[in-house]
Amino acid sequence: MSGYENAPAVAVLGLGEMGSALAAVLVDGGHPVTVWNRSEDKAHPLVAKGARWAATAAEAVGAAEVVIVNVAGGAVAAELLRTSGAELAGRTVVDLTDGTSEQATATERLVREHGADYLHGQIMTIAPAIGAPETLVFYGGARPAFDRYETLLQVLGGRATFVSSDPGVPALYGMAVHDIMWGLLNGFLHAAALLGDAGLRIDEFHQLAQPSLSALPTLFPMLANEIDHAQFATPFGALNHHLPSLDDLIAESRARGIDTDLPTYTRNLVADAITAGHGHDSYARLVEYFSRR
Ligand SMILES: NC(=O)c1ccc[n+]([C@@H]2O[C@H](COP(=O)([O-])OP(=O)(O)OC[C@H]3O[C@@H](n4cnc5c(N)ncnc54)[C@H](OP(=O)(O)O)[C@@H]3O)[C@@H](O)[C@H]2O)c1
Repeated sequence: MSGYENAPAVAVLGLGEMGSALAAVLVDGGHPVTVWNRSEDKAHPLVAKGARWAATAAEAVGAAEVVIVNVAGGAVAAELLRTSGAELAGRTVVDLTDGTSEQATATERLVREHGADYLHGQIMTIAPAIGAPETLVFYGGARPAFDRYETLLQVLGGRATFVSSDPGVPALYGMAVHDIMWGLLNGFLHAAALLGDAGLRIDEFHQLAQPSLSALPTLFPMLANEIDHAQFATPFGALNHHLPSLDDLIAESRARGIDTDLPTYTRNLVADAITAGHGHDSYARLVEYFSRR
């Protein structure tokens, strides 16, 4: 067992795929760990590693300074904490359960009413990466609690990053990354369907188009700056120039029997902006159209 001096006692409520990974690295990190799960069998490997089993969530909470919650959804997490009630007083709850920003805010209120500090964490990776130095977890809520337990939080993921005193912000950051991911993935898959229909290999395309594809993420800081300052004037690449390319993509897709919904959605945004007089603006202008729909 490796560890650090005075490693605080931790309770882990929820031993699914993620909760078991969290509890395991805490045991390995030298923390006294008490575990609880609705189905006891999932605790067996952790008890074999040195964790202690608690018969109820409240009993686990009562044995710990820091209470980690990782279950299926914000509503389940809130209910578990509610049933732990008075046992929460004086402890710090680190809720690593995914949910909406509203759920995180409501759970913070509940926990604080019971006299405990609250941090909401958004895990930005999958279970096998828990404990890795490059693993990113966004935290929001009580900054003093984050500072007090930063070493513990780094045991879970080396990049423990405090983002806001508002506990809803980590959930929003997590959703934003997913939002970007699905947009990029859908674009890639639509393109792959188009190329595949023409009998072209996707891996060969990917390799040859690398200079263009690898430039895409470098646009993010420019877009962010334009949106934050509402400055959409651009000397090149204005919305007017996007419309003919979108029409070509839609026509090519239609001719090949490939879905046209995705490019048509983009075309409609661009056309609306041009109609509203924004044809000479940068692509970032479209953020206003997402906000309105
Ligand atoms: N898995 C990942 O890689 C990953 C990555 C990022 C974030 N997350 C988030 O981590 C959280 C847990 O995910 P997971 O993948 O570990 O899920 P999972 O393997 O499906 O485990 C779900 C956990 O929630 C418990 N649970 C479900 N309903 C319950 C209820 N009504 N009362 C009490 N406990 C209940 C389950 O208990 P039983 O064992 O008794 O069913 C189990 O411990 C989710 O918010 C998920 O979005 C997971």
